[in-house]
Amino acid sequence: MKRSEYLKILNLAKISLEEYNNWGENEIYKTSIADASYGKIVSTEIKRQISPTEIFGSKEELERLREKVNSCKKCPLGKSRLNAVFGIGSSNADLMFVGEGPGYDEDHKGEPFIGRAGQLLTKIIEAMGQTRKTVYIANIVKCHPMIDASNPEKRSNDRPPTFEEMEICKPYLDMQLDIIKPKIIVTLGASSTKGLLKSGEPISRIRGVVREYKGIKLMPTYHPAALLRNQDLKKFVWEDMKKVARYLDMGEI
Ligand code: SF4
Ligand code: URA
Repeated sequence: MKRSEYLKILNLAKISLEEYNNWGENEIYKTSIADASYGKIVSTEIKRQISPTEIFGSKEELERLREKVNSCKKCPLGKSRLNAVFGIGSSNADLMFVGEGPGYDEDHKGEPFIGRAGQLLTKIIEAMGQTRKTVYIANIVKCHPMIDASNPEKRSNDRPPTFEEMEICKPYLDMQLDIIKPKIIVTLGASSTKGLLKSGEPISRIRGVVREYKGIKLMPTYHPAALLRNQDLKKFVWEDMKKVARYLDMGEI
């Protein structure tokens, strides 16, 4: 194919993807504006399945998704939050941490894991030889679950997300996983572990045992907030993180 033809097709794909709001599918429809304007150029080439990341790159894709989340009101948490908390880190991270949901500090700043539990998570990440910039950190729900939804200025107003809230928000996490393609996910605490694995087992039993979510290895461990309450749990998290680091180094777990 000629370079000029290829560039036209690429451009077409960009236009199609831009008008294409329905995430979750990635086939470009024949009836797009791009089709109409370029007519016959829309060849079989363009009708093959194209992943958005092939065109935009994972960083841009994540930013597009962030914008959607910033304006999301799909569940009631969207009404009371101050800021949606999308996620932070590398769009190519091999290691992704998934917490339960933003708290007071995160809701105010729009960044995950920046309160006391977050500072401990940062230390855990650094002890693994990584940084907040080399991994990716997100939550299973992007908006602050509050006990009293009328009072986002109140401290200690956090609660775990409900099963329903997790189910409604999870497609965003799934899309983050599709874009970032980590080698391993670490779920922090019972909420995100249960939300992804649909398992009723207590975190004390399920932690440290590698599972899979959507074909990606998943290591459940305790939430850093639990470590702040009970120092004795630190050794278990350290055991689990050593397994994760070994998997990233050697490919075995
Ligand atoms: Fe949307 Fe998730 Fe926020 Fe609910 S928690 S409003 S689904 S982004
Ligand atoms: N706890 C979480 O689960 N997530 C955050 O972002 C902060 C605290």
